[in-house]
Amino acid sequence: MIAPKPPMGFNTWNTFGKNINEELIREIADCFAQNGLREAGYEYIVIDDCWSEMERDPESGSIVADKEKFPSGMKALGDYIHQKGLKFGMYSCSGVRTCGGYPGSFGHEYQDAKDFASYGCDLLKYDFCFRPNVVESKLLYRKMGMALRATGRDIVYSVCTGGMDHPEKWARSAGAHMYRSTLDISDSYESFKGIALGQAPNLHYSAPGCFNDLDMLTVGMYGNGNVADGGCSKTEYATQFMLWCLFGTPLMLGCDPRTLSPELLSLLKNQKLIEINQDPECRPAFEVSAHPWIGGRKAYFRFLKNGEYALGLVNFSDSDGEVPFYTYSAGLGEGYCMQFENLVTGEISTPQKDYFGANIPAHGCAVYKVTLV
Ligand code: GLA
Repeated sequence: MIAPKPPMGFNTWNTFGKNINEELIREIADCFAQNGLREAGYEYIVIDDCWSEMERDPESGSIVADKEKFPSGMKALGDYIHQKGLKFGMYSCSGVRTCGGYPGSFGHEYQDAKDFASYGCDLLKYDFCFRPNVVESKLLYRKMGMALRATGRDIVYSVCTGGMDHPEKWARSAGAHMYRSTLDISDSYESFKGIALGQAPNLHYSAPGCFNDLDMLTVGMYGNGNVADGGCSKTEYATQFMLWCLFGTPLMLGCDPRTLSPELLSLLKNQKLIEINQDPECRPAFEVSAHPWIGGRKAYFRFLKNGEYALGLVNFSDSDGEVPFYTYSAGLGEGYCMQFENLVTGEISTPQKDYFGANIPAHGCAVYKVTLV
């Protein structure tokens, strides 16, 4: 099976936008191989929009790599990424043009899929701009889904409609392995909070083989780059990452990995958090909030493999305070207590029978591994 767990990697768009070239991509691949991100599970290096010439090759009809940005061509770059033990992701669009105005794959789906496969492509992000609206989007996405399979290569199919046309209803059936459920993320607290709260009720659409994609992380961007929007604090970036882990969504880094602080790098490599994201049962987290008088303080609980559980306490409000969790709301009953291991600090609670709460700073989050005792 392709993508039995949420795909993990890196995508150029959030930080670099159209300012991409082969040297940058090689440096990023080197960086993933050197700083432990590859070992932590991040494997796809995805080149987003703006990689090609403005027109197809008049003779072959193929989309060709920008000769200045990628003089060695996409096959050589794919080979380089593979030599680093990583996987190569590419981008195209279901319309006649990509969102950035470059050639799209409309009417060329099978040819493009074949070309991409010949470059060693392991993931295709497939966008939604410049689409003649006489054609139903699900048909266009089925077409690329089938074209990718026809290449005979294992290619993760990353459907991106920016949440338009209810992809949760048809993306899986069109062969997708992940589908974007929301408009584009930007580097601010309000942006990721809106995405997380909006999608929390839709996590049950994810399962092995196809995942609700809450968009590339902005962790570590600190207000710089293509989707800059004021930036987030360290606490807010930690919340974003923990939510993405808890919610079982693809973990695609959008920062410049070469400039990550040691602290954020170690957060992004936190194996216990990643294990929750990658739990093989892929069960959705569900909300168990019960705070009658203060809004924005939420608890999410998740069933994991082997009788394990995870709890996330999130303080979406603007003031510090306790986030409560009532054990019965997750299913606890007579004869058992719950013990909570904070996955960042390592602290383990005493067994709790009916209630557990923690003081969480404004916009902060804590994630626990929960054991029945
Ligand atoms: C859309 C997508 C983004 C990015 C850009 C590229 O907006 O949602 O993630 O791929 O296109 O132009």
